[in-house]
Amino acid sequence: MAKIKKLEDLFHDTLKDVYFAEKRILTSLPKMAKAAQHADLKAAFEKHLGETEGQIDRLEQVFAEIEQKPHGKTCDAIVGITKEGQEIMDEYKGMPAHDAGLLAAAQAVEHYEMTRYGTLRTWAEELGYSKSVTLLQQTLDEERATDAALTKLAKSVINLDAEKDEAA
Ligand SMILES: [Fe+2]
Ligand SMILES: [Fe+2]
Repeated sequence: MAKIKKLEDLFHDTLKDVYFAEKRILTSLPKMAKAAQHADLKAAFEKHLGETEGQIDRLEQVFAEIEQKPHGKTCDAIVGITKEGQEIMDEYKGMPAHDAGLLAAAQAVEHYEMTRYGTLRTWAEELGYSKSVTLLQQTLDEERATDAALTKLAKSVINLDAEKDEAA
């Protein structure tokens, strides 16, 4: 008979999904920072790269609380989202709208992470993993702050430059 899968199993599986996603983001962010034309966008990606390293460390602490080894499981969503970001970098290279597209791709990543961390935090509460609740909430707050910083950047400069006749 198949194993009866409960919230505990779903939590573990989703943790593996986001662990894979963070590692994928860790390899994407340096490419995005390199590709960004605006210094502010470059700096935002570099800052988030450092945060992402800390987020992976937090996930490993969550694995420890549930007494499992840290393992990733292919997350098709993040593979697709980062692939779209790569397409923007290729198709808009040197163009005024490049950074607006790259920034939007980055926000798609942040929103994916926000939904995952919100879910995991809630499940951790229900399962009684109090240390994990704190860790997941910290990361959720960082993802939200990153998203907000990107919105601010988009509105203040990036989207305006995307309408110019020359690249930034
Ligand atoms: Fe993250
Ligand atoms: Fe993020």
